[in-house]
Amino acid sequence: MKGALCWAVAGLQPLLSAALTIAEINGNKFISSYNGKTVSDVTGLVTAKSSAGIYIRSTTPDDDEATSESIYVFSSTIGKTVNVGDIITLGSAKVSEYRSSNTYMHLTELTNPTGITVVSSNNTVTPLVIGKDTLSPPTEQFTSLDGGDIYSVPNAQQNISAVNPVLKPAEYGLDFWESLTGELVTVKAPTALKIPSSYRDTWVIGDWKVTGKNDAGSLTMSAKDSNPETIIIGAPLDSTKNPTTTKLGDALEDITGVVTNTFGFYTILPLTALKIKSPSPLSPPPTTLVSSKSCKGLTVGTYNVENLAPTSAHMPKVASQIVTYLKSPDLLFIQEVQDDDGATDDGVVSANKTLTTLISAIKSAGGPQYDYVTISPLNDEDGGQPGGNIRTAYLYNPSMLSLKNGATAGSSTDANEVIVDAETGQPSLKFNPGRVDPSNAAWEATRKPLAAEWIAKDGKKSFFTVNVHMSSKGGGSSVHGDVRPPVNGGVEKRTEQAEITASFISKILKADPAARVIAAGDFNEFAFVKPLTTFASVSGLKELDEALNTPVENRYTYSYDMNAQALDHMYISPVLASSKSKFQHIHVSSWVTASAVVSDHDPSVALFDVCGCADSQKRVHKL
Ligand SMILES: *[C@@H]1O[C@H](CO)[C@@H](O)[C@H](O)[C@H]1NC(C)=O
Ligand SMILES: *[C@@H]1O[C@H](CO)[C@@H](O)[C@H](O)[C@H]1NC(C)=O
Ligand SMILES: *[C@@H]1O[C@H](CO)[C@@H](O)[C@H](O)[C@H]1NC(C)=O
Repeated sequence: MKGALCWAVAGLQPLLSAALTIAEINGNKFISSYNGKTVSDVTGLVTAKSSAGIYIRSTTPDDDEATSESIYVFSSTIGKTVNVGDIITLGSAKVSEYRSSNTYMHLTELTNPTGITVVSSNNTVTPLVIGKDTLSPPTEQFTSLDGGDIYSVPNAQQNISAVNPVLKPAEYGLDFWESLTGELVTVKAPTALKIPSSYRDTWVIGDWKVTGKNDAGSLTMSAKDSNPETIIIGAPLDSTKNPTTTKLGDALEDITGVVTNTFGFYTILPLTALKIKSPSPLSPPPTTLVSSKSCKGLTVGTYNVENLAPTSAHMPKVASQIVTYLKSPDLLFIQEVQDDDGATDDGVVSANKTLTTLISAIKSAGGPQYDYVTISPLNDEDGGQPGGNIRTAYLYNPSMLSLKNGATAGSSTDANEVIVDAETGQPSLKFNPGRVDPSNAAWEATRKPLAAEWIAKDGKKSFFTVNVHMSSKGGGSSVHGDVRPPVNGGVEKRTEQAEITASFISKILKADPAARVIAAGDFNEFAFVKPLTTFASVSGLKELDEALNTPVENRYTYSYDMNAQALDHMYISPVLASSKSKFQHIHVSSWVTASAVVSDHDPSVALFDVCGCADSQKRVHKL
């Protein structure tokens, strides 16, 4: 039939004349130019089988790195008639671009194969070793359509499928993985990047060159580098199950499998289940920052305790972590404290019982007798788990510090204000504590920041804190998805929230540039992305890791998809950016197995001199 124009009986659909190679069908772009067309006499070596199809590799490869030499043939029956090692010819098949959601990338595949001929059997099948038989995956950029960073704004400007750029597998991660779809590959000396998903899918890197490797051997994202050199290992083709006990930094046995695109990500489906070769020997060390029991060395922690209610199973574990790993900081910013009956949606908003239960558990675990400060939200107004009424709160050691006297606590709806003393020029708060602009629409269905003013027992001057828990990234699109730059869920809301919080803080620093201000918590954002670059520039505060020059790769408090990342931060006023300040992230969540995870966030601990030197500067001005 070759060279002759023939007609399929059913639809009188023209078949393409000459037999195409697999590389020609895939083409050098994301979407095949033969999408929807019927092709004839496609020849390939069967490299792998699944219950729903087979993977075939061209017997006449080209030398273009952009074109995959392999393709998936979707058919539940074909695997019954052919074997791995067979070279086969498909008399005809339809080229199809498949995806299960319109925000995902497509997988180029052949469907409705007919006229299957086995040309020869028992041929050798050799997987391509990634980085040796293929290029190495690019380490920084995902596509040419991301404006230089997947976190650039505005999001969702273009779809890859519409632009369909020519693949540049040496430059862009998605182009690299697309250029290998359908291929049987081996990942040598893989390292697990985090605990598996609930489907037991596990992100890994191989022995190729990577950037952003952190103290535990996983990869930390940074500005313009969100680690496209990583790949997720999905469900094994032989129906075995991946382990659930894998954790960040574990060395795995070599992985051989096929590259595909599924559930919104480029994925390797391994021939058989992953095996842990040697578990990471690391276990998270406790902080070395211990209170000096004076304002010269006050310890301050921040921890998102993940939907903590009085009856939470993780309540005693959180308490024990605070004592053992955080060494009972003098002041602790906490987020995700639920009301007294947790997720029961019955109008209860007080968290007194949640907080007193936590405080008793800390005491039982050998910690101090903390006191607490919080303001309850209006019922069901602050987002989070329905009925839980999560809010931020402070625990503080009353033998070390107290709220500054003089102002009463605000209500849920009272907006805190910065009051400047006419005589001394010193700032103070109208409500102590008080929520920041709680009626502003920017805070709809989210947590309002809690501002407080404190004095250390031996301090000469007060210091200010703002406990932050901004809107989540929910509603975002896949980093491997069609939409570019990907949707960073809630980015506009967080930008507004950052502006409001920062402008409040800027009033403190305008009145007193030497004020000690600490804004900390779960910002749900990275320091280099717009909400937080805005926060820093408007507030006059500096991110503490940045101020202290923490190695960029060791700035992380969370593991999401392929990345170790920092959603939790402390921001400090200039006077605290001294060499006396210290900061540590305590990886009680990132480094442990799924069964040992207590909260999804890592806590952090800092040490500051908050004594203050009376108002010498002001007096100088007055002279
Ligand atoms: C392929 O090899 C198997 C044994 O490995 C043998 O049983 C079979 O006959 C061989 N098939 C062909 C077509 O040579
Ligand atoms: C991208 O694709 C989605 C889903 O089809 C569509 O809703 C959206 O409008 C597209 N975006 C652009 C910028 O074309
Ligand atoms: C919670 O405690 C605060 C003070 O600590 C008190 O004013 C308030 O009445 C308490 N709420 C409930 C419901 O017990």
